[in-house]
Amino acid sequence: MYDDISKKLESKLDKKLVSKSKKKQLDDGFKKGKVINEVLDKPTVMTLYKMIKDHIISYVNGAVSAGKESLLFWAVNDEKKNVALKIYLVSTSNFKKRESYITGDPRFSKVRRGTKNLIYLWAKKEFKNLSQCYDCNLPVPKPLYVTNNVLVMDFIGQNGVPCKTLLESEVDESDYRQCLSILQRLYKDAKLVHGDYSEYNIFKTPDGLVLFDLGSAVDIRHSNAIEFLKRDIKNINHFFSKRGLSVSDPSHLLEEIIK
Ligand SMILES: Nc1ncnc2c1ncn2[C@@H]1O[C@H](COP(=O)(O)OP(=O)(O)OP(=O)(O)O)[C@@H](O)[C@H]1O
Ligand SMILES: [Mg+2]
Repeated sequence: MYDDISKKLESKLDKKLVSKSKKKQLDDGFKKGKVINEVLDKPTVMTLYKMIKDHIISYVNGAVSAGKESLLFWAVNDEKKNVALKIYLVSTSNFKKRESYITGDPRFSKVRRGTKNLIYLWAKKEFKNLSQCYDCNLPVPKPLYVTNNVLVMDFIGQNGVPCKTLLESEVDESDYRQCLSILQRLYKDAKLVHGDYSEYNIFKTPDGLVLFDLGSAVDIRHSNAIEFLKRDIKNINHFFSKRGLSVSDPSHLLEEIIK
């Protein structure tokens, strides 16, 4: 019976993915069929099934986006609230790249070897990073649950459509100021450096900016934290100057953030 339900769920999710890929929403690396086998492997399907059984979610509505390292699904919980499921890909993950964002972070000193363990740890790490931010009132999606390679958080957007990122939005001086303020509060209050702070990982919502994709964020005690922070400043400055805004001197910003 377990197998039966898992098959049903699998085929339901497969159909959703296939219909999305027909609409050309899943590009490069996510060829039909291949994707499905690679992404929704049996353990992932079982994890989703268990989450439904445990009333973490009520049902999965469909795929929203396929990133390089994760799939984003729109799901609904028992209270009819929209939630986002971030499912980390076990098979396509860039395991070497990830390792440097975990080794050296004192919060994760005991890392078990093996790709699968690392992926599970990565999901936990993003959950922890989101929680640290959320607890400091930083604007991030509220983390709700994590198990294996699946992270559940508030859905930022409406009817399964995510809010626009900075890249997809008109931006102004006030957005730049908000970006810098978030970067500083991230460091000072949440004690984190994002590591991938960019126009791709910040939503512009009617209520202000919302930071997401915190998988690569590291503790400020990480030996590369300052290097990552410098890169974050550089990236965000680069984006806003490309959009025609005048930006502050990066070394001055760095000093301000870490002082
Ligand atoms: N909480 C959320 N609510 C709504 N949509 C979300 C949420 N989190 C992520 N998304 C959507 O999923 C996309 C990918 O998310 P994210 O950046 O966290 O994953 P990723 O694996 O880093 O993907 P990429 O490689 O594209 O950066 C986002 O661009 C956004 O459209
Ligand atoms: Mg991203």
